[in-house]
Amino acid sequence: MSVKVYVPCDAAAVSVGADAVAKAMADQIASRRLGVSLIRNGSRGMFWLEPLVEVETPRGRVAYGPVSAEKVPSLLDEGLLEGKAHSLCLGLTEEIPFLKRQERLTFARCGVIDPLSLSDYITHGGYRGLERATRMTPQAIVEEVANSGLRGRGGAGFPTGMKWRTVLNTAAQQKYIVCNADEGDSGTYADRLIMEGDPFVLIEGLTIAGIAVEATSGYIYVRSEYPNAFRTLERAIAIGYDNGYLGANVAGSGKRFDLDVRLGAGAYICGEETALLESLEGKRGQIRFKPPLPAIQGLFGKPTVVNNVISLATVPIILDKGAEHYRNFGIGKSRGTLTIQLAGNIQRGGLVEKAFGLTLREAIYDFGGGTASGRPLRAVQAGGPLGAYFPESLLDTPLDYEAFIERKGMLGHGGIVVFDDTVDLARQARFAMEFCAVESCGKCTPCRIGSTRGVEVIDKIIGNQDRKQNLELLDDLCEVMTDGSLCALGGLIPLPVQSAIRHFPEDFDKQVPSPLANVASKEDSQPWR
Ligand SMILES: Cc1cc2nc3c(=O)[nH]c(=O)nc-3n(C[C@H](O)[C@H](O)[C@H](O)COP(=O)(O)O)c2cc1C
Ligand code: SF4
Repeated sequence: MSVKVYVPCDAAAVSVGADAVAKAMADQIASRRLGVSLIRNGSRGMFWLEPLVEVETPRGRVAYGPVSAEKVPSLLDEGLLEGKAHSLCLGLTEEIPFLKRQERLTFARCGVIDPLSLSDYITHGGYRGLERATRMTPQAIVEEVANSGLRGRGGAGFPTGMKWRTVLNTAAQQKYIVCNADEGDSGTYADRLIMEGDPFVLIEGLTIAGIAVEATSGYIYVRSEYPNAFRTLERAIAIGYDNGYLGANVAGSGKRFDLDVRLGAGAYICGEETALLESLEGKRGQIRFKPPLPAIQGLFGKPTVVNNVISLATVPIILDKGAEHYRNFGIGKSRGTLTIQLAGNIQRGGLVEKAFGLTLREAIYDFGGGTASGRPLRAVQAGGPLGAYFPESLLDTPLDYEAFIERKGMLGHGGIVVFDDTVDLARQARFAMEFCAVESCGKCTPCRIGSTRGVEVIDKIIGNQDRKQNLELLDDLCEVMTDGSLCALGGLIPLPVQSAIRHFPEDFDKQVPSPLANVASKEDSQPWR
Protein backbone atom coordinates (compact mmCIF):
# COMPACT_ATOMS: atom_id res chain seq x y z
CA MET A 1 0.00 0.00 0.00
CA SER A 2 1.36 3.43 -0.90
CA VAL A 3 2.06 6.11 1.67
CA LYS A 4 -0.09 9.24 1.39
CA VAL A 5 1.68 12.61 1.36
CA TYR A 6 -0.37 15.82 1.38
CA VAL A 7 0.74 19.18 -0.06
CA PRO A 8 -1.94 21.91 -0.08
CA CYS A 9 -3.24 23.38 -3.34
CA ASP A 10 -4.88 26.29 -1.48
CA ALA A 11 -4.07 29.76 -2.88
CA ALA A 12 -2.48 30.91 0.41
CA ALA A 13 -0.15 27.89 0.45
CA VAL A 14 0.55 28.26 -3.28
CA SER A 15 1.46 31.93 -2.75
CA VAL A 16 4.33 30.81 -0.49
CA GLY A 17 5.59 28.00 -2.72
CA ALA A 18 3.31 24.95 -2.30
CA ASP A 19 3.31 24.19 -6.04
CA ALA A 20 7.12 24.12 -6.09
CA VAL A 21 7.09 21.83 -3.05
CA ALA A 22 4.58 19.51 -4.75
CA LYS A 23 6.71 19.41 -7.89
CA ALA A 24 9.89 18.69 -5.93
CA MET A 25 8.05 15.93 -4.05
CA ALA A 26 6.70 14.40 -7.29
CA ASP A 27 10.20 14.47 -8.86
CA GLN A 28 11.74 12.80 -5.82
CA ILE A 29 8.99 10.17 -5.69
CA ALA A 30 9.64 9.36 -9.38
CA SER A 31 13.44 9.34 -9.21
CA ARG A 32 13.55 7.29 -5.99
CA ARG A 33 10.75 5.00 -7.24
CA LEU A 34 8.82 5.46 -3.99
CA GLY A 35 5.38 3.98 -3.37
CA VAL A 36 3.80 7.31 -2.48
CA SER A 37 0.52 8.95 -3.50
CA LEU A 38 0.82 12.69 -3.55
CA ILE A 39 -2.47 14.39 -2.66
CA ARG A 40 -3.15 18.11 -3.04
CA ASN A 41 -5.38 18.96 -0.08
CA GLY A 42 -6.88 22.26 1.09
CA SER A 43 -5.27 24.35 3.81
CA ARG A 44 -5.66 23.60 7.52
CA GLY A 45 -5.71 27.39 7.94
CA MET A 46 -2.39 27.75 9.79
CA PHE A 47 -0.79 30.22 7.43
CA TRP A 48 2.49 30.74 9.25
CA LEU A 49 3.21 27.03 8.73
CA GLU A 50 2.48 26.97 4.99
CA PRO A 51 3.47 25.14 2.89
CA LEU A 52 2.46 22.50 5.43
CA VAL A 53 3.31 18.97 4.25
CA GLU A 54 1.64 16.03 5.94
CA VAL A 55 2.25 12.30 5.81
CA GLU A 56 -0.17 9.60 6.86
CA THR A 57 1.33 7.22 9.43
CA PRO A 58 -0.19 4.51 11.65
CA ARG A 59 -0.12 7.09 14.51
CA GLY A 60 -2.07 9.66 12.46
CA ARG A 61 -1.00 12.44 10.14
CA VAL A 62 2.38 13.99 10.89
CA ALA A 63 3.02 17.59 9.82
CA TYR A 64 6.15 19.36 8.55
CA GLY A 65 6.31 23.06 7.91
CA PRO A 66 6.95 25.53 6.54
CA VAL A 67 8.54 23.37 3.84
CA SER A 68 10.48 24.76 0.88
CA ALA A 69 11.16 22.84 -2.35
CA GLU A 70 14.89 22.68 -1.49
CA LYS A 71 14.15 20.87 1.78
CA VAL A 72 12.19 18.03 0.15
CA PRO A 73 15.19 15.69 -0.54
CA SER A 74 16.53 16.03 3.02
CA LEU A 75 13.05 15.50 4.47
CA LEU A 76 12.76 12.25 2.51
CA ASP A 77 16.34 11.21 3.46
CA GLU A 78 15.52 11.74 7.12
CA GLY A 79 12.36 9.66 7.13
CA LEU A 80 9.41 11.93 6.31
CA LEU A 81 7.55 8.93 4.93
CA GLU A 82 7.67 7.27 8.35
CA GLY A 83 6.82 10.54 10.13
CA LYS A 84 10.30 10.73 11.67
CA ALA A 85 11.81 13.68 13.51
CA HIS A 86 13.23 16.61 11.54
CA SER A 87 13.79 20.27 12.40
CA LEU A 88 10.60 21.04 10.42
CA CYS A 89 8.54 18.27 12.05
CA LEU A 90 5.57 19.60 13.99
CA GLY A 91 4.36 16.24 15.33
CA LEU A 92 0.85 14.96 14.83
CA THR A 93 -1.18 17.55 12.91
CA GLU A 94 -4.22 17.18 15.14
CA GLU A 95 -2.06 17.84 18.21
CA ILE A 96 -0.80 21.24 17.04
CA PRO A 97 -2.30 23.50 19.77
CA PHE A 98 -3.74 26.03 17.26
CA LEU A 99 -5.77 23.21 15.68
CA LYS A 100 -6.35 21.04 18.74
CA ARG A 101 -8.18 23.76 20.67
CA GLN A 102 -10.64 24.43 17.84
CA GLU A 103 -14.17 23.11 17.42
CA ARG A 104 -14.31 22.42 13.73
CA LEU A 105 -17.81 21.68 12.50
CA THR A 106 -18.10 23.53 9.20
CA PHE A 107 -14.37 23.14 8.55
CA ALA A 108 -14.13 19.54 9.77
CA ARG A 109 -12.84 18.26 6.42
CA CYS A 110 -10.93 21.32 5.22
CA GLY A 111 -7.26 20.43 4.78
CA VAL A 112 -8.04 16.80 5.56
CA ILE A 113 -9.42 15.57 2.25
CA ASP A 114 -8.65 15.89 -1.44
CA PRO A 115 -11.09 18.72 -2.29
CA LEU A 116 -12.11 17.17 -5.59
CA SER A 117 -12.49 13.58 -4.45
CA LEU A 118 -16.17 12.83 -4.04
CA SER A 119 -15.37 9.49 -2.43
CA ASP A 120 -13.08 11.22 0.10
CA TYR A 121 -15.93 13.63 0.85
CA ILE A 122 -18.43 10.83 1.38
CA THR A 123 -16.00 8.74 3.45
CA HIS A 124 -15.59 11.72 5.77
CA GLY A 125 -19.33 12.14 6.40
CA GLY A 126 -20.27 14.13 3.30
CA TYR A 127 -23.78 14.00 1.82
CA ARG A 128 -25.27 12.54 5.02
CA GLY A 129 -27.13 15.82 5.60
CA LEU A 130 -28.58 15.79 2.08
CA GLU A 131 -29.53 12.15 2.42
CA ARG A 132 -31.57 13.00 5.54
CA ALA A 133 -33.03 16.14 3.92
CA THR A 134 -34.38 14.12 0.98
CA ARG A 135 -36.51 12.16 3.46
CA MET A 136 -37.95 15.33 5.07
CA THR A 137 -40.62 17.79 4.00
CA PRO A 138 -39.41 21.26 2.95
CA GLN A 139 -41.09 22.71 6.07
CA ALA A 140 -39.26 20.25 8.33
CA ILE A 141 -35.88 21.15 6.78
CA VAL A 142 -36.56 24.86 7.23
CA GLU A 143 -37.57 24.31 10.86
CA GLU A 144 -34.44 22.22 11.50
CA VAL A 145 -32.27 25.09 10.26
CA ALA A 146 -34.33 27.64 12.23
CA ASN A 147 -34.05 25.55 15.43
CA SER A 148 -30.29 25.27 15.06
CA GLY A 149 -30.08 29.02 15.66
CA LEU A 150 -27.90 29.49 12.56
CA ARG A 151 -27.47 33.17 11.70
CA GLY A 152 -26.08 34.45 8.44
CA ARG A 153 -22.29 34.63 8.46
CA GLY A 154 -22.13 37.26 5.69
CA GLY A 155 -22.20 40.11 8.20
CA ALA A 156 -25.68 40.98 9.40
CA GLY A 157 -26.31 37.79 11.41
CA PHE A 158 -29.86 37.44 10.12
CA PRO A 159 -31.53 34.12 11.13
CA THR A 160 -31.12 31.74 8.19
CA GLY A 161 -34.23 29.68 8.97
CA MET A 162 -36.41 32.82 8.95
CA LYS A 163 -35.10 33.83 5.53
CA TRP A 164 -35.70 30.35 4.14
CA ARG A 165 -39.24 30.29 5.62
CA THR A 166 -40.11 33.50 3.75
CA VAL A 167 -38.92 32.04 0.46
CA LEU A 168 -40.68 28.71 1.07
CA ASN A 169 -43.94 30.54 1.84
CA THR A 170 -43.74 32.76 -1.25
CA ALA A 171 -45.45 30.97 -4.11
CA ALA A 172 -43.66 31.12 -7.47
CA GLN A 173 -42.97 28.91 -10.50
CA GLN A 174 -39.25 29.52 -10.15
CA LYS A 175 -37.14 30.25 -7.07
CA TYR A 176 -33.38 30.59 -6.69
CA ILE A 177 -30.58 30.00 -4.21
CA VAL A 178 -27.71 32.46 -4.53
CA CYS A 179 -24.50 31.94 -2.65
CA ASN A 180 -22.64 35.11 -1.80
CA ALA A 181 -18.95 34.34 -2.25
CA ASP A 182 -17.86 37.93 -2.84
CA GLU A 183 -15.92 38.00 0.46
CA GLY A 184 -14.80 41.62 0.27
CA ASP A 185 -14.11 42.29 3.96
CA SER A 186 -10.57 43.18 4.96
CA GLY A 187 -8.74 40.31 6.65
CA THR A 188 -11.26 37.63 5.69
CA TYR A 189 -10.71 34.40 3.81
CA ALA A 190 -12.96 31.72 5.37
CA ASP A 191 -15.16 31.53 2.25
CA ARG A 192 -12.14 31.06 0.02
CA LEU A 193 -10.60 28.41 2.27
CA ILE A 194 -13.70 26.26 2.23
CA MET A 195 -14.41 26.72 -1.49
CA GLU A 196 -10.86 25.57 -2.27
CA GLY A 197 -10.59 22.98 0.51
CA ASP A 198 -14.04 21.38 0.69
CA PRO A 199 -16.21 22.56 -2.23
CA PHE A 200 -18.70 19.70 -1.92
CA VAL A 201 -19.84 20.89 1.50
CA LEU A 202 -20.95 24.17 -0.09
CA ILE A 203 -22.59 22.36 -2.99
CA GLU A 204 -24.39 20.09 -0.52
CA GLY A 205 -25.55 23.11 1.51
CA LEU A 206 -26.91 24.83 -1.60
CA THR A 207 -28.70 21.65 -2.66
CA ILE A 208 -30.34 21.26 0.76
CA ALA A 209 -31.38 24.92 0.63
CA GLY A 210 -32.91 24.31 -2.83
CA ILE A 211 -34.94 21.34 -1.62
CA ALA A 212 -35.99 23.25 1.53
CA VAL A 213 -37.46 26.27 -0.25
CA GLU A 214 -38.42 24.48 -3.49
CA ALA A 215 -35.85 26.26 -5.62
CA THR A 216 -34.53 24.25 -8.54
CA SER A 217 -31.66 26.48 -9.52
CA GLY A 218 -28.66 28.03 -7.77
CA TYR A 219 -25.68 30.28 -8.44
CA ILE A 220 -22.44 30.84 -6.60
CA TYR A 221 -21.15 34.39 -7.11
CA VAL A 222 -17.38 34.27 -6.53
CA ARG A 223 -15.24 37.38 -6.28
CA SER A 224 -12.98 37.88 -9.28
CA GLU A 225 -9.88 37.84 -7.05
CA TYR A 226 -10.51 34.13 -6.31
CA PRO A 227 -9.64 32.36 -9.60
CA ASN A 228 -8.54 29.16 -7.82
CA ALA A 229 -11.78 28.89 -5.89
CA PHE A 230 -13.71 29.53 -9.11
CA ARG A 231 -11.91 26.71 -10.94
CA THR A 232 -12.27 24.30 -8.01
CA LEU A 233 -16.01 24.97 -7.85
CA GLU A 234 -16.43 24.53 -11.60
CA ARG A 235 -14.76 21.14 -11.41
CA ALA A 236 -16.62 20.08 -8.26
CA ILE A 237 -19.96 21.03 -9.85
CA ALA A 238 -19.12 18.94 -12.93
CA ILE A 239 -18.28 15.98 -10.64
CA GLY A 240 -21.58 16.55 -8.79
CA TYR A 241 -23.50 16.32 -12.09
CA ASP A 242 -21.56 13.25 -13.24
CA ASN A 243 -22.41 11.43 -10.02
CA GLY A 244 -26.08 12.34 -9.73
CA TYR A 245 -25.71 14.86 -6.88
CA LEU A 246 -26.85 17.71 -9.11
CA GLY A 247 -29.36 17.84 -11.95
CA ALA A 248 -32.79 16.33 -12.50
CA ASN A 249 -32.72 13.65 -9.82
CA VAL A 250 -30.57 14.76 -6.90
CA ALA A 251 -29.22 11.71 -5.04
CA GLY A 252 -32.11 9.64 -6.40
CA SER A 253 -34.69 11.86 -4.65
CA GLY A 254 -36.62 12.76 -7.77
CA LYS A 255 -35.89 16.45 -6.99
CA ARG A 256 -34.10 18.77 -9.40
CA PHE A 257 -31.31 21.15 -8.46
CA ASP A 258 -29.07 22.86 -11.00
CA LEU A 259 -26.01 24.84 -10.00
CA ASP A 260 -23.64 27.22 -11.73
CA VAL A 261 -20.80 29.49 -10.70
CA ARG A 262 -20.25 33.10 -11.80
CA LEU A 263 -17.26 35.41 -11.44
CA GLY A 264 -17.86 38.72 -9.63
CA ALA A 265 -17.35 42.22 -10.90
CA GLY A 266 -14.50 43.32 -8.63
CA ALA A 267 -16.37 45.86 -6.51
CA TYR A 268 -16.91 45.75 -2.75
CA ILE A 269 -20.54 46.76 -3.19
CA CYS A 270 -21.21 43.63 -5.27
CA GLY A 271 -21.11 41.74 -1.95
CA GLU A 272 -24.28 43.55 -0.84
CA GLU A 273 -27.04 41.17 -1.74
CA THR A 274 -29.13 43.39 -4.03
CA ALA A 275 -26.10 44.79 -5.87
CA LEU A 276 -24.92 41.19 -6.23
CA LEU A 277 -28.25 40.23 -7.81
CA GLU A 278 -27.98 43.15 -10.25
CA SER A 279 -24.46 42.03 -11.15
CA LEU A 280 -25.60 38.41 -11.54
CA GLU A 281 -28.27 39.61 -13.94
CA GLY A 282 -25.53 41.22 -16.03
CA LYS A 283 -26.09 44.80 -14.91
CA ARG A 284 -23.94 47.32 -13.08
CA GLY A 285 -23.60 46.36 -9.39
CA GLN A 286 -25.81 48.94 -7.76
CA ILE A 287 -28.10 48.71 -4.74
CA ARG A 288 -31.80 48.01 -5.22
CA PHE A 289 -34.37 49.67 -3.04
CA LYS A 290 -35.74 47.41 -0.29
CA PRO A 291 -38.55 46.37 0.01
CA PRO A 292 -39.17 44.16 -1.82
CA LEU A 293 -36.71 41.84 -0.08
CA PRO A 294 -34.78 39.37 -2.28
CA ALA A 295 -36.69 36.62 -0.46
CA ILE A 296 -39.84 37.93 -2.18
CA GLN A 297 -38.41 39.40 -5.40
CA GLY A 298 -34.78 38.52 -5.91
CA LEU A 299 -32.90 37.14 -8.89
CA PHE A 300 -34.83 37.90 -12.11
CA GLY A 301 -37.66 39.09 -9.85
CA LYS A 302 -38.18 35.64 -8.30
CA PRO A 303 -38.07 34.61 -4.61
CA THR A 304 -34.42 34.09 -3.77
CA VAL A 305 -32.38 32.92 -0.81
CA VAL A 306 -29.14 34.88 -0.68
CA ASN A 307 -26.74 33.35 1.82
CA ASN A 308 -23.08 33.60 2.58
CA VAL A 309 -20.72 30.68 1.83
CA ILE A 310 -20.21 29.79 5.49
CA SER A 311 -23.94 29.92 6.25
CA LEU A 312 -24.64 27.44 3.45
CA ALA A 313 -21.60 25.26 4.15
CA THR A 314 -22.82 24.88 7.74
CA VAL A 315 -26.23 23.52 6.71
CA PRO A 316 -25.02 19.93 5.94
CA ILE A 317 -23.73 19.36 9.47
CA ILE A 318 -26.96 20.75 10.95
CA LEU A 319 -29.01 18.33 8.88
CA ASP A 320 -26.61 15.49 9.61
CA LYS A 321 -26.21 15.91 13.37
CA GLY A 322 -29.47 17.71 14.11
CA ALA A 323 -30.37 21.24 15.19
CA GLU A 324 -29.84 20.45 18.87
CA HIS A 325 -26.24 19.35 18.33
CA TYR A 326 -25.41 22.61 16.55
CA ARG A 327 -27.20 24.97 18.92
CA ASN A 328 -25.42 23.43 21.89
CA PHE A 329 -22.35 25.39 20.80
CA GLY A 330 -22.24 29.15 21.41
CA ILE A 331 -23.68 31.71 23.82
CA GLY A 332 -26.82 33.86 24.02
CA LYS A 333 -28.35 34.37 20.60
CA SER A 334 -25.10 33.49 18.83
CA ARG A 335 -25.39 29.75 18.35
CA GLY A 336 -22.93 27.32 16.82
CA THR A 337 -19.40 28.15 15.82
CA LEU A 338 -17.78 31.26 14.40
CA THR A 339 -15.05 31.06 11.80
CA ILE A 340 -12.60 33.62 13.14
CA GLN A 341 -10.03 34.88 10.67
CA LEU A 342 -6.89 36.30 12.28
CA ALA A 343 -5.04 38.84 10.16
CA GLY A 344 -2.97 42.01 10.21
CA ASN A 345 -0.08 42.36 12.66
CA ILE A 346 -0.43 38.90 14.21
CA GLN A 347 2.12 36.19 14.89
CA ARG A 348 -0.05 33.22 13.93
CA GLY A 349 -2.50 34.30 11.25
CA GLY A 350 -5.13 31.77 10.30
CA LEU A 351 -8.56 30.32 10.64
CA VAL A 352 -10.01 29.43 14.03
CA GLU A 353 -13.40 27.75 14.19
CA LYS A 354 -14.66 27.95 17.71
CA ALA A 355 -17.99 28.21 19.54
CA PHE A 356 -19.22 31.81 19.91
CA GLY A 357 -18.25 33.23 23.30
CA LEU A 358 -14.48 33.13 23.05
CA THR A 359 -13.13 36.61 23.84
CA LEU A 360 -11.20 38.79 21.41
CA ARG A 361 -8.23 38.48 23.76
CA GLU A 362 -8.32 34.68 23.69
CA ALA A 363 -8.57 34.68 19.91
CA ILE A 364 -5.68 37.12 19.49
CA TYR A 365 -3.32 35.80 22.18
CA ASP A 366 -4.16 32.13 22.81
CA PHE A 367 -4.54 31.37 19.11
CA GLY A 368 -2.79 34.24 17.34
CA GLY A 369 0.15 34.60 19.75
CA GLY A 370 -0.11 38.42 19.88
CA THR A 371 1.41 40.87 17.43
CA ALA A 372 3.89 39.73 14.80
CA SER A 373 6.08 42.77 15.51
CA GLY A 374 6.28 41.90 19.22
CA ARG A 375 5.20 45.47 20.03
CA PRO A 376 2.19 46.17 22.26
CA LEU A 377 -1.21 45.75 20.64
CA ARG A 378 -3.06 49.04 20.29
CA ALA A 379 -6.15 48.46 18.19
CA VAL A 380 -8.25 45.73 16.65
CA GLN A 381 -10.71 46.09 13.80
CA ALA A 382 -13.26 43.30 13.75
CA GLY A 383 -15.99 42.91 11.14
CA GLY A 384 -14.24 44.22 8.03
CA PRO A 385 -13.87 47.80 6.76
CA LEU A 386 -17.22 48.81 8.27
CA GLY A 387 -16.32 47.46 11.72
CA ALA A 388 -15.25 49.52 14.72
CA TYR A 389 -11.70 49.93 16.02
CA PHE A 390 -11.51 48.51 19.54
CA PRO A 391 -8.78 49.49 22.01
CA GLU A 392 -6.96 47.05 24.31
CA SER A 393 -9.50 47.75 27.07
CA LEU A 394 -12.26 46.09 25.01
CA LEU A 395 -10.36 42.88 24.33
CA ASP A 396 -12.43 40.95 26.85
CA THR A 397 -15.49 41.38 24.62
CA PRO A 398 -16.89 37.95 23.81
CA LEU A 399 -17.22 37.06 20.15
CA ASP A 400 -20.99 37.32 20.07
CA TYR A 401 -23.16 39.43 17.76
CA GLU A 402 -24.98 41.25 20.57
CA ALA A 403 -21.87 41.92 22.69
CA PHE A 404 -20.27 43.68 19.72
CA ILE A 405 -23.37 45.76 18.99
CA GLU A 406 -23.54 46.82 22.66
CA ARG A 407 -20.01 48.22 22.30
CA LYS A 408 -20.88 49.98 19.04
CA GLY A 409 -18.99 47.42 17.01
CA MET A 410 -19.80 44.64 14.59
CA LEU A 411 -18.72 41.02 14.37
CA GLY A 412 -19.51 40.82 10.66
CA HIS A 413 -17.92 37.92 8.80
CA GLY A 414 -15.51 37.18 11.66
CA GLY A 415 -12.38 38.94 10.37
CA ILE A 416 -10.06 40.30 13.08
CA VAL A 417 -7.30 42.68 11.99
CA VAL A 418 -4.67 43.49 14.62
CA PHE A 419 -2.57 46.69 14.87
CA ASP A 420 0.38 47.39 17.14
CA ASP A 421 1.26 50.70 18.85
CA THR A 422 2.68 52.24 15.67
CA VAL A 423 -0.81 52.63 14.20
CA ASP A 424 -2.23 56.13 13.73
CA LEU A 425 -5.99 55.94 14.26
CA ALA A 426 -6.63 59.33 12.64
CA ARG A 427 -5.09 57.89 9.53
CA GLN A 428 -7.18 54.73 9.87
CA ALA A 429 -10.34 56.86 10.18
CA ARG A 430 -9.36 58.58 6.97
CA PHE A 431 -8.75 55.19 5.32
CA ALA A 432 -12.25 54.11 6.29
CA MET A 433 -13.88 57.22 4.86
CA GLU A 434 -11.83 57.07 1.68
CA PHE A 435 -12.66 53.38 1.28
CA CYS A 436 -16.33 54.39 1.31
CA ALA A 437 -15.70 57.15 -1.24
CA VAL A 438 -13.88 54.74 -3.57
CA GLU A 439 -16.34 51.87 -3.21
CA SER A 440 -19.63 53.84 -3.04
CA CYS A 441 -22.06 52.69 -5.74
CA GLY A 442 -23.22 56.29 -6.06
CA LYS A 443 -26.93 55.65 -5.73
CA CYS A 444 -27.58 57.82 -2.66
CA THR A 445 -26.27 61.27 -1.76
CA PRO A 446 -25.25 60.78 1.90
CA CYS A 447 -22.76 58.11 0.88
CA ARG A 448 -21.70 59.36 -2.58
CA ILE A 449 -21.07 62.96 -1.54
CA GLY A 450 -20.79 62.47 2.23
CA SER A 451 -17.82 60.13 2.03
CA THR A 452 -15.81 62.55 -0.14
CA ARG A 453 -16.68 65.47 2.16
CA GLY A 454 -15.79 63.20 5.09
CA VAL A 455 -12.26 62.66 3.77
CA GLU A 456 -11.82 66.41 3.38
CA VAL A 457 -13.03 67.10 6.92
CA ILE A 458 -10.77 64.42 8.42
CA ASP A 459 -7.84 65.94 6.50
CA LYS A 460 -8.61 69.30 8.11
CA ILE A 461 -8.79 67.69 11.57
CA ILE A 462 -5.47 65.92 11.03
CA GLY A 463 -4.02 69.16 9.67
CA ASN A 464 -5.14 71.02 12.84
CA GLN A 465 -7.45 73.37 10.93
CA ASP A 466 -10.39 74.59 13.09
CA ARG A 467 -10.19 71.22 14.74
CA LYS A 468 -13.08 71.60 17.21
CA GLN A 469 -15.55 72.83 14.56
CA ASN A 470 -14.45 70.17 12.10
CA LEU A 471 -14.86 67.38 14.66
CA GLU A 472 -18.43 68.62 15.22
CA LEU A 473 -18.99 68.77 11.47
CA LEU A 474 -17.69 65.21 11.11
CA ASP A 475 -20.10 64.10 13.82
CA ASP A 476 -23.03 65.70 11.96
CA LEU A 477 -21.90 64.16 8.69
CA CYS A 478 -21.67 60.70 10.30
CA GLU A 479 -25.20 61.13 11.66
CA VAL A 480 -26.52 61.98 8.18
CA MET A 481 -24.68 59.00 6.66
CA THR A 482 -25.96 56.63 9.36
CA ASP A 483 -29.57 57.77 9.06
CA GLY A 484 -29.79 58.65 5.38
CA SER A 485 -27.77 56.06 3.48
CA LEU A 486 -29.59 53.51 1.39
CA CYS A 487 -27.38 50.59 2.41
CA ALA A 488 -24.90 49.56 5.06
CA LEU A 489 -21.81 50.76 3.20
CA GLY A 490 -22.63 54.43 3.77
CA GLY A 491 -24.70 53.60 6.83
CA LEU A 492 -21.97 51.80 8.76
CA ILE A 493 -18.82 53.63 7.73
CA PRO A 494 -19.29 56.02 10.69
CA LEU A 495 -18.58 52.98 12.91
CA PRO A 496 -14.81 52.80 12.23
CA VAL A 497 -14.53 56.60 11.95
CA GLN A 498 -16.31 57.41 15.20
CA SER A 499 -14.80 54.50 17.12
CA ALA A 500 -11.34 55.81 16.20
CA ILE A 501 -12.28 59.26 17.56
CA ARG A 502 -13.98 57.81 20.67
CA HIS A 503 -11.28 55.37 21.71
CA PHE A 504 -8.16 57.10 20.41
CA PRO A 505 -8.86 60.87 20.78
CA GLU A 506 -5.16 61.62 21.26
CA ASP A 507 -4.49 60.70 17.62
CA PHE A 508 -6.85 63.49 16.52
CA ASP A 509 -5.34 66.05 18.85
CA LYS A 510 -1.78 66.48 17.71
CA GLN A 511 -0.66 70.08 17.95
CA VAL A 512 1.48 69.97 14.86
CA PRO A 513 -0.17 69.14 11.55
CA SER A 514 0.33 65.44 11.00
CA PRO A 515 2.65 64.61 8.09
CA LEU A 516 -0.07 62.13 7.21
CA ALA A 517 -2.58 64.88 6.50
CA ASN A 518 -1.93 64.73 2.81
CA VAL A 519 -1.77 61.01 2.31
CA ALA A 520 -3.85 60.62 -0.76
CA SER A 521 -2.71 57.80 -2.92
CA LYS A 522 -5.35 55.10 -3.21
CA GLU A 523 -2.90 52.24 -2.70
CA ASP A 524 -1.42 53.83 0.37
CA SER A 525 -4.78 54.56 1.90
CA GLN A 526 -6.14 51.04 1.63
CA PRO A 527 -3.62 48.95 3.54
CA TRP A 528 -5.92 45.92 3.61
CA ARG A 529 -6.03 45.59 -0.16
C1 LIG B 1 -21.38 46.87 1.39
C2 LIG B 1 -21.74 45.46 1.74
C3 LIG B 1 -20.90 44.43 1.35
C4 LIG B 1 -21.23 43.10 1.67
N1 LIG B 1 -20.37 42.11 1.29
C5 LIG B 1 -20.70 40.82 1.56
C6 LIG B 1 -19.84 39.76 1.14
O1 LIG B 1 -18.78 39.98 0.55
N2 LIG B 1 -20.23 38.49 1.44
C7 LIG B 1 -21.39 38.20 2.10
O2 LIG B 1 -21.72 37.04 2.32
N3 LIG B 1 -22.21 39.19 2.51
C8 LIG B 1 -21.90 40.49 2.25
N4 LIG B 1 -22.76 41.48 2.62
C9 LIG B 1 -24.03 41.10 3.28
C10 LIG B 1 -25.08 40.73 2.23
O3 LIG B 1 -25.76 41.90 1.82
C11 LIG B 1 -26.13 39.75 2.78
O4 LIG B 1 -26.60 40.22 4.00
C12 LIG B 1 -25.58 38.34 2.98
O5 LIG B 1 -25.02 37.84 1.79
C13 LIG B 1 -26.72 37.43 3.39
O6 LIG B 1 -26.22 36.15 3.70
P1 LIG B 1 -26.24 35.59 5.17
O7 LIG B 1 -27.62 35.79 5.72
O8 LIG B 1 -25.91 34.15 5.01
O9 LIG B 1 -25.23 36.35 5.95
C14 LIG B 1 -22.44 42.82 2.35
C15 LIG B 1 -23.27 43.87 2.75
C16 LIG B 1 -22.91 45.17 2.45
C17 LIG B 1 -23.82 46.27 2.87
S1 SF4 C 1 -24.92 53.85 0.86
FE1 SF4 C 1 -23.36 54.09 -0.75
S2 SF4 C 1 -23.12 52.05 -1.58
FE2 SF4 C 1 -25.06 52.07 -0.44
S3 SF4 C 1 -26.64 52.67 -1.92
FE3 SF4 C 1 -25.92 54.56 -1.04
S4 SF4 C 1 -24.30 55.22 -2.47
FE4 SF4 C 1 -24.65 53.07 -2.87
